Amino acid sequence: MFSLKSLANFFAKNKEESVLGVDIGSSSLKVVQLRKKQGRVVLETYGELALGPYGGAEVGQSMNLSAEQIIETLKDLLREAKVTTKSCGVSIPFARSLLTLVELPYRKNPDEQKTVIQLEARKYVPVPVSEVQLDWFIVPAETPSEDIALRGKVEVLIVAVHNDELKFLQNVIAGAGLTASFYEIEIFSTIRAAVEEPVKPVMVLDIGAASTKTYVVERGIVALSHAISVGSQDITRAISISGNVSIAQAEILKKEKGLGEGDFGSPELVFSRIFSEARRVLIQYEMAHKKSITSIVLTGGGGITKELDEYAKKVFSIDVHVADPFAKTEAPAFMRSVLESIGPEFAVAVGLALRKLEGV
Ligand SMILES: Nc1ncnc2c1ncn2[C@@H]1O[C@H](COP(=O)(O)OP(=O)(O)OP(=O)(O)O)[C@@H](O)[C@H]1O
Ligand SMILES: [Mg+2]
Repeated sequence: MFSLKSLANFFAKNKEESVLGVDIGSSSLKVVQLRKKQGRVVLETYGELALGPYGGAEVGQSMNLSAEQIIETLKDLLREAKVTTKSCGVSIPFARSLLTLVELPYRKNPDEQKTVIQLEARKYVPVPVSEVQLDWFIVPAETPSEDIALRGKVEVLIVAVHNDELKFLQNVIAGAGLTASFYEIEIFSTIRAAVEEPVKPVMVLDIGAASTKTYVVERGIVALSHAISVGSQDITRAISISGNVSIAQAEILKKEKGLGEGDFGSPELVFSRIFSEARRVLIQYEMAHKKSITSIVLTGGGGITKELDEYAKKVFSIDVHVADPFAKTEAPAFMRSVLESIGPEFAVAVGLALRKLEGV
């Protein structure tokens, strides 16, 4: 379903209608409702609800809840955030999807190209293709002079999501009384909401609760992606152990202090693990493509950590920005600073709502 862009168009209906982005993260659900008014993108409402308390754990911890528990949380969130629309776009966790950039034989005829891609994709998808939804993007040639036909090869980003995952999400969305016109791997939503650089390669670090998604974006295409199984909940756990405080207290301390003061545990130790793995991805990209990555975008709840951008600048010695997805929306001026400070957590939901607004 997520691949059918024409279907999404069909659902787009009225341009002035309110739309919703629904991000089902491992530690919390986020929603963002937008509406287009005279060509401007207006933020109507947003909200977040932690999953932990719905499964007997603390806020900020990643959970493995049943569809029923997630439906219950989502319904509560829609009510609390006073969401007024049912039409939404929904994120697919990166952990449940497969993204791979491959070089395939070029065919001039689009139908033949499609057949080639579908056949070749079997080699890269580790389960029978009947069990997944397949999608792909043909990477545009870098310079007009680069003649694809002559080279006889095209670069294709193959994307696969297991049917079971889609069914699970569809079940949740229907259970909460919503109607989704598309499901999109969270990486693409984040790029739409948080990556400004149109040409040069940029590395995104989405520091979630359970994991950190790291990927390189070049001209809107995901050139490389990798999941690091360390996230912000590991910082909470580290603080809890070394400071001998509860998880709930550690979560508060983490948000208060960030990397500013290190007297409770060592968040820096956890971040250095994340960054050293991210660094390997960065180097791998730079070597393979013979290009340097010019900046890093920090996003996800962990991206909000105080002083993290300064620390990242030191580690990577390149430009580091914290994502500000709400900057793409219009909101009352007095809300700007709040929206800026919570923005990274909402990048996926904003990106989904932005796509829904465009009706694609
Ligand atoms: N101000 C803050 N400072 C530090 N950490 C924070 C802050 N706000 C949120 N976090 C942490 O960010 C994490 C949640 O981030 P996010 O909402 O992006 O994760 P998620 O989408 O639920 O998880 P995942 O992406 O792994 O599925 C939590 O562990 C939370 O403690
Ligand atoms: Mg997330």
